[in-house]
Amino acid sequence: MFADRTRWNLAPNRLSEALAKHRAAGKPIIDLTASNPTECGFEYDREAILKALCNPAALVYEPNPKGLGVARQAVASYYAGHGAQVSAEDMVLTTSTSEAYSFVFRTLCNPGDEILVPTPSYPLFSFLAEIQDVKLVSYPLIYDHGWQIDFHSLEQAITPRTRGTIVVHPNNPTGNFCKPGEMARLNEVCAAREMALIADEVFLDFSLAGERQASFAANTAALTFTMNGLSKICGLPQMKAAWLVVSGPKPIKKEALARLEVIADTYLSMNAPVQLAIPTFLEMRHRFQKQLMARVRGNLAELDRQLARQQSCTRLEVEGGWYTVLRVPAMRSDEDLAVDLLVRRDVYVHPGHFYDFPSNGYLVVSLITGELEFKDGMGRVLSNLWP
Ligand SMILES: Cc1ncc(COP(=O)(O)O)c(C=O)c1O
Repeated sequence: MFADRTRWNLAPNRLSEALAKHRAAGKPIIDLTASNPTECGFEYDREAILKALCNPAALVYEPNPKGLGVARQAVASYYAGHGAQVSAEDMVLTTSTSEAYSFVFRTLCNPGDEILVPTPSYPLFSFLAEIQDVKLVSYPLIYDHGWQIDFHSLEQAITPRTRGTIVVHPNNPTGNFCKPGEMARLNEVCAAREMALIADEVFLDFSLAGERQASFAANTAALTFTMNGLSKICGLPQMKAAWLVVSGPKPIKKEALARLEVIADTYLSMNAPVQLAIPTFLEMRHRFQKQLMARVRGNLAELDRQLARQQSCTRLEVEGGWYTVLRVPAMRSDEDLAVDLLVRRDVYVHPGHFYDFPSNGYLVVSLITGELEFKDGMGRVLSNLWP
């Protein structure tokens, strides 16, 4: 009865099984995978958020495939703050960056066409691609005094069916930004082969160095789709608002926008109250980002203090984002280690293979976990690394 594309192996893995059992038994859990900002103890201006959702203009239905002008203008101002000139006409609002991915895949790919994707990276990509009948082909990031794109492998991975490449800026979970030299090389590769650049910038504003990082949103050398949304930059994933900016050589950009507009018009998935609140939500992001970066920096400093007291574990360099990668003894699989940490020490971490790390010996932890929990949890992890 069902389509091949939905023939997933839905059996829980050993870690999710152990987690369900742990929870069912009512045991405590220190969650070092926390990624939901609304549950991490940050202060939000509750009244202002709720008031922004009560705009009387929401009583009128104004179907606009690209999204309401007032919201798109606010997004354009966000990019102006990043030094990128973006027109409100060159974007489409979506309910999430995940939806933005599906619009882009639909615009670019016939069934079976290929999109390049960095490894290690965010595990949802494989589902987003499969649902759209797109084949993901990995290109590796290599770690050598920080992470960088392995361009030789990226170019080797290109076939006549490759329609574009994803770049996550900064990447989840490795936390590396795409450097100016890498941006230039990606442009060369894509422009020469009529491939699109798909830039996921959901963590763009979270740079540990504190400096503003360049966005792909005004990139013109190749057709570029840049995505971001309220989920991360405002810490409001529940508002379901994101966007897709199109840039590139003029004729191809125009064609891409016209096609995207038809897809967006077919769904008209944005709701009015949230669109009208986007300008207010974006204004509020600074307060959220300040708290979040203080948390990330505090946890990273605590981690470094604990790492300095032992020799079994190190952390990889991180430039931005909400996560860090631990290099741990590869005496057993990452999954065995994660299950053991949960069962014996009540700590939940992600094994590296969730993110397609090429070998065992990696754990991923969130840096937005509350400070006390993080300190306690990391202490337990570091004292439990050997079998
Ligand atoms: C790299 C990356 N892209 C996209 C998303 C999803 O964002 P959204 O909530 O807008 O779909 C996430 C969420 O964690 C992410 O890590």
